[in-house]
Amino acid sequence: MQDKATISYDGKAADYPVIIGTEGEKAIDVGKLRAQTGCITFDDGYGNTGSCLSKITFIDGDQGILRYRGIDIAELAEKSDFIETAYLIIWGRFPTADERRAFEARLQEHAKLPESMTQQFQGFPKDAHPMAILTAMINAMSCHHQELFEIRNEADFTTATAILLSKIRLIAAYIYKHGTGDSLFVQPSDASGYTAQFLTMMFSWPGKRYVADADVARALDLLFILHADHEQNCSTSTVRMVASSEANLFTAVSAGVSALWGKLHGGANQAVLEMLQGIKDRGDSIESVIAKCKQKDSDFRLMGFGHRVYKNFDPRAKIIKVACDKVLDKLGKTDPLLQIAKDLEKAALSDSYFVDRKLYPNVDFYSGIIMRAIGIPTNMFTVMFALGRMPGWIANWKETNENPKARIYRPRQIYMGPKLRSYEEAKKG
Ligand code: ACO
Repeated sequence: MQDKATISYDGKAADYPVIIGTEGEKAIDVGKLRAQTGCITFDDGYGNTGSCLSKITFIDGDQGILRYRGIDIAELAEKSDFIETAYLIIWGRFPTADERRAFEARLQEHAKLPESMTQQFQGFPKDAHPMAILTAMINAMSCHHQELFEIRNEADFTTATAILLSKIRLIAAYIYKHGTGDSLFVQPSDASGYTAQFLTMMFSWPGKRYVADADVARALDLLFILHADHEQNCSTSTVRMVASSEANLFTAVSAGVSALWGKLHGGANQAVLEMLQGIKDRGDSIESVIAKCKQKDSDFRLMGFGHRVYKNFDPRAKIIKVACDKVLDKLGKTDPLLQIAKDLEKAALSDSYFVDRKLYPNVDFYSGIIMRAIGIPTNMFTVMFALGRMPGWIANWKETNENPKARIYRPRQIYMGPKLRSYEEAKKG
């Protein structure tokens, strides 16, 4: 295989090294392109741009492969749990039994929120979007843990990781309670496992403790595993971008939460449910919804369909679809929205518009149905995604910081605005 590529422009040619990844992915290293040719690359939306070398997650979008640290997502979904998977993603290996116990003890130690943080909730309007509060509260951790601005050693990093992974649960639960108009927060008191404990925080009220059913907790844990990392997506790239300026871990992750919010990214799970609910309420036919996607000048999209990288199938969607049926069975529930989702999927997968564009259900198409069955309100769905994605953001922040050759991320642009003109000319319009 060739280990260099030649680029010629304006009569000048130069060779550029080709980097080959573990799984044979190839990249032309254009680091010296501007110096040698005067040109930069242009890649709108970064579809062809590798922004880093990473050892965390591998995706092959054409084959529908997703692996964390070399392990297939289906195997992790079957055999692992969220905390073990989080450890694997962040530290690159599974914990020993002692390491796991020690890490869980750290999570327990940081499960509560200090009074100063709970008081902050009072300043947010009751109808504020949960993602707006989540971003603010995670950034606020920078105020409450100034000792971790500089991560000086592994112990600091473990503490910051435990704080983020653990406290985000109670923050999420408080956001939910704040939105219901109730400010009687319940501090966690048991050690029933990460996800079961989160459900207890979410659904317990003073004097009424919620105990999660094991299968329900497992279903949510599975959702967290499936969301735990996804290489250089919009929010993770944002975390790396912020990390590259040597900003602290809390503030970098808070930026990731903001990037996740949009409906083309993590906000899709909320958008899917709203779309399905709208179809049901209006009594729209499946044919009319599919037709709406194809209308010229329509910006309507089937939420939960399509992916920048997966062009065959999203392996997470396959796992979730099965889990979805199981959870509803377990809870003895039927959900008319699940039937609409299945009918939409069937119609889209046999429609040339979707087939030609390689648009398949993504992880968010069915995840909302599971969360709804558990009792999580629609506007909290993206918060659940953020909870699951936390290990990936932390691992990517760590990798960026540990790179001895790291430079601040600073893309260039092609300026297409007006040529030089005077103040007076510009005022004339
Ligand atoms: N419904 C209908 N048409 C679609 C959809 C969709 N969901 N997604 C893409 N298309 C069409 C586009 O209109 C475009 O058609 P055209 O070639 O006729 O102009 C073509 O498919 C390619 O679309 P792009 O926007 O170029 O694809 P891109 O890779 O940039 O976008 C994205 C990927 C954002 C996920 C897109 O498919 C989308 O908007 N999906 C719906 C939102 C969603 O589910 N997001 C969650 C992503 S997964 C995650 O973040 C966990």
